[in-house]
Amino acid sequence: MDTILSIRNIVKVYPNGVVANKGISFDIEKNTIHALVGENGAGKTTLMKILFGIEKPQEGKIIYKGKEVHFKSPLDAIHNGIGMVHQHLMLAPDLTVAENLTLGIEPRKWKVFLDTKKAVDIAKRVSEEFGMEVPLEKRVRDLPIGIRQRVEILKALLRNAELLILDEPTAVLTPQETEVLFKTLFDLKKHGKTIIFISHKLKEVKAIADRVTVIRDGKVIATEDAGSLTEHEIAELMVGREIRFERIPPSPKVGAPLLKVKNIRYRNKENVEVLKGVSFEVRSGEILGVAGVEGNGQTELVEILTGLRKADEGSIVINGEEVIGKTPREIREKGVSHIPEDRMKNGVAENAKIKENLIVDRYYKNPFSKGMFVDWKFITKYSAKLMKDFNVLATSPDALVSSLSGGNIQKVVVARELSMNPSVIIADQPVRGIDVGSEELVHRLLNEARDKGSAIFLVSADLDEVLELSSRIIVIYNGEIVARFDDVEGLTGKDLGPYMLGVKREA
Ligand SMILES: Nc1ncnc2c1ncn2[C@@H]1O[C@H](COP(=O)(O)OP(=O)(O)OP(=O)(O)O)[C@@H](O)[C@H]1O
Ligand SMILES: [Mg+2]
Repeated sequence: MDTILSIRNIVKVYPNGVVANKGISFDIEKNTIHALVGENGAGKTTLMKILFGIEKPQEGKIIYKGKEVHFKSPLDAIHNGIGMVHQHLMLAPDLTVAENLTLGIEPRKWKVFLDTKKAVDIAKRVSEEFGMEVPLEKRVRDLPIGIRQRVEILKALLRNAELLILDEPTAVLTPQETEVLFKTLFDLKKHGKTIIFISHKLKEVKAIADRVTVIRDGKVIATEDAGSLTEHEIAELMVGREIRFERIPPSPKVGAPLLKVKNIRYRNKENVEVLKGVSFEVRSGEILGVAGVEGNGQTELVEILTGLRKADEGSIVINGEEVIGKTPREIREKGVSHIPEDRMKNGVAENAKIKENLIVDRYYKNPFSKGMFVDWKFITKYSAKLMKDFNVLATSPDALVSSLSGGNIQKVVVARELSMNPSVIIADQPVRGIDVGSEELVHRLLNEARDKGSAIFLVSADLDEVLELSSRIIVIYNGEIVARFDDVEGLTGKDLGPYMLGVKREA
């Protein structure tokens, strides 16, 4: 075999003193899919940013195709055949897909005007070459996240990437989209490409990777053939302790309905009927799970429940009060918390401190404010406690959210939302990007909230998560609830599949 990349003793210290990589060394063979796994904050993204010329290491060497390289910028890395799809996607939302694809290498008419037609032609050619369909003339802003990501991959391929870095590409994908991506990755491997693949879903690592490197706290723990380790073994190498997965017992007491949704109808901008009369209730002490292929109305439904979008018809009663027409803030004041599917868009203010993000919805209340004065000393102590309870890895409550790893940003959102003492929790992909150890913690905390009497509405693209947590399950397909399961005991993905795909529906 042929080594394409040797990473030797990489040390990275951030200006705030965090040592994110503590002497990392391993090799990547050409034409393989090499998985990189480790807990939130272990240093995966940092290492990838070094390979891609975004960050500079204090020590160590990178040998690429037999030569030591020092990339000064991503552009430099790109010229050398390295491509990266970032953990938080980086496309320009107001440009079209074709424009994004050709950004920086755009064809021009008379060297001045953007040649849109030619841009579309070039983009179309790569999209066909690699069998990845994308809507070339649509604006990125209007696309689902799965398609955006395909655009990012194409963008790297268009720049002739030989070594492709994918930082948690599947975190935002549905299982169906993941399957499509994996097919693409296998094809790329056939085309001679090498892929570095980061994921917290160890099932995926097993399914796709040839080799796997486990890092913990900035150090390499193991590099092995993926086939020689079980999921469980990988998980234990990651966290450095034994882990057990237990099924969560049903809630002891189910109370009154706290969330009553009746006949919600909604048409989108394109005049497509996205929700066609959706009705359900969630009671105190239960978790109602929504199973469904993403894109069947879940996103719109969650945005309507939280006041981010307006329904055309229907009623939403929370704690006995109609909330249709109320603002997100007013709905929140009624005790509704919301873990949004896209943490960067609706979850955090990246350039603010952790503590500011944690109290943004409550700073004006007692005990955070006394009279006219915000009590920052108290807030700092309070935030430190939340960070500890929710396993947020950061230097201090004063750290900027932008300096956190992806999974730790997600934990900040979860910490704020679960600590507001909510009566209703709208949890949309609550563990997205969170490592296996912390996933266990978040699931436990959701159950504790349930047992304390919260009504939880859970949306997840991960069917296993829905099956594991839910007291009851509804299946949504094409804007309608097509099945309801009040007893989830013994229920499996196979039982739900035909409903999720619209093959079957309850009378
Ligand atoms: N720009 C930065 N400034 C300061 N510290 C940073 C910065 N970026 C990352 N860190 C810190 O470096 C450590 C490693 O972060 P990194 O993003 O590499 O983790 P990760 O393994 O990718 O985690 P995740 O699975 O959550 O994405 C973390 O402690 C993080 O807070
Ligand atoms: Mg990361």
